[in-house]
Amino acid sequence: MLVSAKEMLTKAKAGKYAVGQFNINNLEWTKAILQTAQELQSPVILGVSEGAGKYMCGYKTIVGMVEGMLEELNITVPVALHLDHGSFEGAKACINAGFSSIMFDGSHYPIEENIAKTTELVNACNVLGLSLEAEVGSIGGEEDGVVGAGECADPDECKAVADLGVTMLAAGIGNIHGKYPDNWAGLSFETLDAIQAKTGDMPLVLHGGTGIPADMIKKAISLGVAKINVNTECQLAFQEATRKYIEEGKDLEGKGFDPRKLLAPGAEAIKATVKEKMELFGSVGKA
Ligand code: 13P
Repeated sequence: MLVSAKEMLTKAKAGKYAVGQFNINNLEWTKAILQTAQELQSPVILGVSEGAGKYMCGYKTIVGMVEGMLEELNITVPVALHLDHGSFEGAKACINAGFSSIMFDGSHYPIEENIAKTTELVNACNVLGLSLEAEVGSIGGEEDGVVGAGECADPDECKAVADLGVTMLAAGIGNIHGKYPDNWAGLSFETLDAIQAKTGDMPLVLHGGTGIPADMIKKAISLGVAKINVNTECQLAFQEATRKYIEEGKDLEGKGFDPRKLLAPGAEAIKATVKEKMELFGSVGKA
């Protein structure tokens, strides 16, 4: 059964480790992540972007697929199915479709509007027992080839949003999605420290987990980060393994590739990446 992310993140914050959110794009990715979490006895959060939601035939299809896998694969560790960077409309659609956790990214709205919309979703999620992630201070990343610097959130705005009763808070601390540029200044621990001082027990979320050095990840966890999102690193691992398989020419003697065999090395590569992250984040054995 899918669970809200609240309990796993409360435990993670108190125990000074982080739960990984790994984004899913298809059946193979989902299966690889769930099997790794079960093997390592780690709680896990499956992230679904709105784009991935469309690709996988909509949110209801995803809920059906994940719930089916939990049963058929005998998954007993806590699993949350989470909308990643949801719009207000997307958040409502996922609540209706049966997701157990929602992110509403209102960071591009003026703070008053972000607060108003987040408040409405806090109420909806509370009624159904779902967890809700809010965002303050937008997280940079590559868009049309231009890498935007990660913003640093205002700790007072973070407190205002945390006080609305959200489950977890994503706050920009210089992190960005995708690969970090060579001249990246690193995470702003000063900002993170100030945010934690104002938000207390609130589990903080670190987006853009790909490519952050291990020592920075550990320091971020020590300063209150309890959820870390990883996507690009799984994509890169999948790409490399798939390319290698194709280059080795393992097609069926001119009859094309067997799709199950074609996707298998990529799935194995994702398992290895997820394992490495769970070990780094300290969530192994915490189910
Ligand atoms: P990366 O793609 O940089 O790992 O970031 C993932 C993420 O933060 C999803 O919300």
